[in-house]
Formats: sequence, C-alpha cells, structure tokens
Amino acid sequence: VLAVTSIAWTAELPPPDKLPSRLDMPHPLEMLDGRRVNTRQDWEKQRRPELRALFQHYMYGEYPARPQKVQGRVLFEDAQFLNGQGTLREVELTFGPDDWPKIYLLLALPNGRTPAPCFVGLNFGGNHLLTAHEKVRMPTVWMPGHYPGVVQNRATAEGRGRQANVWPLEQILARGYAVATFYCGDIQPDRPHVREGMRATLPERPTETGRETATIMWWAWGIHNAVDYLLTDSRIDGRKLIVVGHSRLGKTALLAGAFDERIAVVIPHQSGCGGAAPSRHHNPKAETVARINATFPHWFCGHFKAFGADVTRLPFDQNGLVALCAPRPVLLTNAEEDQWANPAGQFEVLRAAAPAYELYDVPRPVVADKMPPLNTLSPERLGYFIRPGKHSMGPEDWKVFMDYCDKWLR
Ligand code: GCU
Repeated sequence: VLAVTSIAWTAELPPPDKLPSRLDMPHPLEMLDGRRVNTRQDWEKQRRPELRALFQHYMYGEYPARPQKVQGRVLFEDAQFLNGQGTLREVELTFGPDDWPKIYLLLALPNGRTPAPCFVGLNFGGNHLLTAHEKVRMPTVWMPGHYPGVVQNRATAEGRGRQANVWPLEQILARGYAVATFYCGDIQPDRPHVREGMRATLPERPTETGRETATIMWWAWGIHNAVDYLLTDSRIDGRKLIVVGHSRLGKTALLAGAFDERIAVVIPHQSGCGGAAPSRHHNPKAETVARINATFPHWFCGHFKAFGADVTRLPFDQNGLVALCAPRPVLLTNAEEDQWANPAGQFEVLRAAAPAYELYDVPRPVVADKMPPLNTLSPERLGYFIRPGKHSMGPEDWKVFMDYCDKWLR
C-alpha cells in the first residue's frame, strides 16, 4: 500500500502576477481564500492538501504518479562488513519499464540491532565514494566533473571511498542506525536542458506546462521509491525512517518528508533557499529566488521563475513546507559561515511553521523561542542546531542527527 498522500487539485490557480503581494511569510493555516483553519481535521482535510497543491503548482512541479510496484534485486551482500559490525548490501530498484532509470540503493545495516531505525537520502557522487568496499557497483550514468575520480563525466574506481566522511557508515552503525542512500543522478542528473533520467520518460517537452515536474521533485519521488523498498525489509524499522540530505539534497529531503508521512523524522542539512530558508528575506549574504532560478533553472518548475522579480507574490513561504511535516520532528542543521544558506532565516521559518504543530496534542513548546548558541542542540519537535564552520556534511553533523533521533525515536 502506498501511503503517500495523493493530491486532488482541480481549481484553477491564478498566474503568479495575479496573486496578492504579501510582505511577510503567509500563515500556514490560512487558506488561499483567506479563511483560517483551526482544527487538526480541517488542516488535514483542507489546508494540507491545498498547500501541497500550491507547492507543486508554483515551485517544485507536479508530484509524479506513484509506480505500481518497486522491485528490488540484491546485487551483493556482505554480512561481515567492518569486521562484522554490519551488513553491506547493494540493491537494484526497478519501478517501471526496462528502459527507465534504476536506483542503486546502498544499504548498511547494524548487525546488533534488528529492526533498525534507518536514515534514507541521496548522495552527490555515487555510492562508491562512500566506502572503499570493492563490490560496490561503479555508476554508469552521467556524473558532475568535479567529483573524485570522475573522468569525462563518468565514475571510475579512483573515486572509491574518497567521500567516506560524508556518510560515515562505521559511526552510524556503531550507534545502531541503518543507512540507505543512492546517487541523485540515478533518477535525474543535476543539469538543465537535457532530456535524460526520469525526464526522458515523459511524452512531452518538460518545460511547456509551467508546473512540469522539476529535478528536486523527481529526486524526492525517487526517495519515496526507496522507502517503498525499505518497508519490505525486515531488518529495518519502517516506523523509524529518517530522511536526510545536504544542501540541494537537503531541499530534497524536506520536500520528500513534507509529501510522505511514512517518513518519521526530517533532517534538511544546510538546505538554504528552496529548502528550509525563507524566500522572503533581507539577508544580503543569502541566496535569493532570482539567483537560484538563474543558476539552477532545472531545480524548480517554470512558474517559480516568475517569483524571482517579486517574491512577495508567492502564496506560501518555506514555513509551509515545514508545516506539511506536522506533527513529525524536523531538525534544521546549519553552519555559522554558511550564510548563503541563511541560518537565521531558517530559524524564523521553523518558528513560523509552529501553528500547524500546535494543532496536535504534543508537548509544548514545539519550538524554542530563540536561536540556540553555537554547538547547542535545540531538541524540540521543531529542532535546530548551528555549529561553527562551513558548508559541508561530516561526522560532527551526523553526531547531532543521531542525538536528535535518539530523543525522538527511542
Ligand atoms: C549552491 C546553491 C545552493 C545549494 C548548494 C549545494 O550553492 O546556490 O542553493 O544548496 O549549491 O547544493 O551545495
């Protein structure tokens, strides 16, 4: 059974320039027609589906049809990974006709804990960068040129294990968590103007509708396909899935969590503009909607381009995307020098998502009233953390992810 909330949306939505201008982040409980919902039931039946529809129409593009069936074929399994600390497995996931893309899911399972809570998310440059294990398959699809070992946009064995710090498998297994990750380019390569990946499976030219499925949405959908598979694996605790991702893949993690209630905890790391940072902001060092649309035109759908000139017309802000995760825990993690990702703006987004959480019978407060000092986890249901340093994901970040999950999942 696919539990992803389906979106029924039939009303005609106005073109971007006909939407009212709003200087502040729109309230997550206020419907497009101005009515405000104030019960959990009206939120779940009316406002939440509307908000999901608005994010599709104006920002990420349509959520694609769910596959009939996601099938897994185990490519290898090593039950003695890291001297027996874990099991390493790679699984080929098929979810369409033979000529469709496939997902190569790398799974690391702690041998001492079954079923285990599991982190799921995309990686930037292929599974083989995360471990030197020689059985891990070499990706054959397009790769960005600057990743370790890449030659003419193809992965080579030179890359093996060269980014093991980004997903520190040993550290994660030692704390009893499992990991499931795959290369984002399995689903959709991170580049504009090419008809490959999932986009190539569509009959029409993808840029014609304005609400065409954009790359971040394809990636989030890919994570949901992986979730379908994870729920069939008895070594994984299907009630304890944590979606995580860094930067553009953190934007994806937030969207994936917002659209799929099977995911228990959502951790967008340094996700910035188009993720957990506000579109409306005055931080001169932070990325803007105009800028992100110009540099990464494929990440968002055609309609989103119109808001570059006037973000005040957006009928939502990113607090709405966080609100869609309610009442599930969301942790925003940041770094002080990474102002491009707007850490302080992200805290405001978190606070402005709280009204949706307050509709539920959960302990208060759901969010802290001030940004915590450096290196201090704010462990609320809407949690926050900022460390010194730069834009990166590494062992010290994973420690915080797991501290937070220990609190919410045990
Ligand atoms: C760029 C982009 C960001 C993005 C980041 C990343 O800096 O402007 O929006 O988050 O790349 O993915 O690392």
